[in-house]
Amino acid sequence: MMWRMKTEYERDPAAFTRDAAMIAPSVLSANFSDMASGIRLIEQSKADWVHLDVMDGHFVPNLTFGPKMVKDLRPLTRLPFDAHLMVEQPEKMISWFVDAGADHITFHIEATVHVHRVLQEIHSMKCKAGVSIVPSTPASALTEVLSSVDLILVMTVNPGFGGQELIPECVSKVKRLREMREKGGHNYLIVVDGGVNRTTSGLLRQAGADVLVTGSAFFAADDASDEVRALRNG
Ligand code: DX5
Ligand code: ZN
Repeated sequence: MMWRMKTEYERDPAAFTRDAAMIAPSVLSANFSDMASGIRLIEQSKADWVHLDVMDGHFVPNLTFGPKMVKDLRPLTRLPFDAHLMVEQPEKMISWFVDAGADHITFHIEATVHVHRVLQEIHSMKCKAGVSIVPSTPASALTEVLSSVDLILVMTVNPGFGGQELIPECVSKVKRLREMREKGGHNYLIVVDGGVNRTTSGLLRQAGADVLVTGSAFFAADDASDEVRALRNG
């Protein structure tokens, strides 16, 4: 744990304010035969987090990687590891990813009955805890856990694959979650994931997103640093 760099948010979540978005490139769009280069590119680009998409072939129709990949990548960077678990019964896997070196664990509220219990479990392991909702789940489904979460990840495509187009109806959920945060005095960060690119980033920032996940736009860019700058400033 010694090598981790604390983000501005981790140092003081309550005081966290930022004009530009944080950028979290997803290794889903990296070359799986050379993940180390993907991590190096993320670091060189001056992005903020490394987003790790874990898929189980059940909750979503795709498979990616497990904790061994996360553990092997961990020594390559000081950037926070942001694990996005697209798995059924995430409670079975939390400790695997914490032990592998994840700093944030986000799971789907559609994937477990015991959302509050899973949040407690993640916090008990000294990790930031996040919940995610798929496009068909309303923001109101999160009402009872708003005070217990560090991150809310709004999926703006149907989870499972990179390179899809943003579903415009999902954007209003970001705005709604921003309002709910202000009204309730909560501290969570709002993360958006899916279809983020130079065309959609401004809209998402305006709606209130704090963190933009980017897979295909980042890895297809001619200049990754330039891409991060463009997305960050929306
Ligand atoms: C999709 C994943 C996303 C994905 C985003 O299920 O959760 O993180 O990598 O990829 P793009 O940016 O290509 O939509
Ligand atoms: Zn993701």
